[in-house]
Amino acid sequence: MTSILQCPVCREPLLVTATGYQCAANHSFDAARQGYVNLVLAQNKHSKEPGDDPEMVLSRRRFLDLGYYNPVSDGINEAVGTVLAGLERENECCVLDAGCGEGFYLQRLKEALAHTPEVRLPITYHGVDVSKFAVRQATQRDRTMAWFVASINDLPFLDTSLDLVLNVFSPANIPEFSRILKQGGSLIFVNPGPRHLNGLREIIYPVTREHAPPAITEKAEALFAPATVARITYPLALASNQEIMDLLAMTPYYWNIDQETKGKVAALDRLELEVDVEIRVFKKKSAARG
Ligand SMILES: C[S@@+](CC[C@H](N)C(=O)[O-])C[C@H]1O[C@@H](n2cnc3c(N)ncnc32)[C@H](O)[C@@H]1O
Ligand SMILES: [Zn+2]
Repeated sequence: MTSILQCPVCREPLLVTATGYQCAANHSFDAARQGYVNLVLAQNKHSKEPGDDPEMVLSRRRFLDLGYYNPVSDGINEAVGTVLAGLERENECCVLDAGCGEGFYLQRLKEALAHTPEVRLPITYHGVDVSKFAVRQATQRDRTMAWFVASINDLPFLDTSLDLVLNVFSPANIPEFSRILKQGGSLIFVNPGPRHLNGLREIIYPVTREHAPPAITEKAEALFAPATVARITYPLALASNQEIMDLLAMTPYYWNIDQETKGKVAALDRLELEVDVEIRVFKKKSAARG
């Protein structure tokens, strides 16, 4: 069976074994009891438990499961569906969510595409996150997808092996995404728009500035054609302190604000805010490497 996975030690293909994966040089990686495979090498770990911690992961899961970000997920699904419907391939197509967190977006994508008749190819779904806790939760959402603990800076996929990479509110590594994408493959990059979480940000910062445009456009210029951009904006009303604290724990503000400001947010039972999200679809240039 052909493999799209790459051994993190020697870069040769990884093949499926009874217990996990192994390359021709006998580097082997067993699946965890929960069903995911950890492909981060100990020497490449920059901290003991990299990525989101259990509290952040569980806050994100609780919040996302309330459905408040379903319109964002629906917008992503539409963008992915359009890309995959236009693919002219004969075999299956391979999709990766890079920085998948606890799996919300990839699971909803799979459900949506199962009901999108224009997408006719069989799809294999892969999710990667550097947080072991996040990947554990993702595996619980759907054990049939391939979940890996790995970094976006060293993705465990062979060159030109994927049709589409999704990257939602997560760190991005443009050369690495380009390396693993097939010619003409797509990168769907999702980031906060200028007014995202206004309402919460006004409580946190004395002067609220708009989010700056993401640096990705410039970084992607050499490897990807200019992106199409869709913007999703809508108001949100959070109805309990738990919802507000869960949202806060999903954001970088949680770590950046002082105790006094955190206390102000912790005193709230209701919060009206704005969701503003941008979805960029980049296509890998044919002249690019790979
Ligand atoms: C804001 S969360 C977004 C998660 C998910 N895409 C979502 O929107 O629900 C950012 C994610 O990036 C992950 N992350 C941080 N650094 C990473 C890296 N170098 N490689 C892979 N994932 C990383 C974190 O563990 C976390 O799950
Ligand atoms: Zn190897």
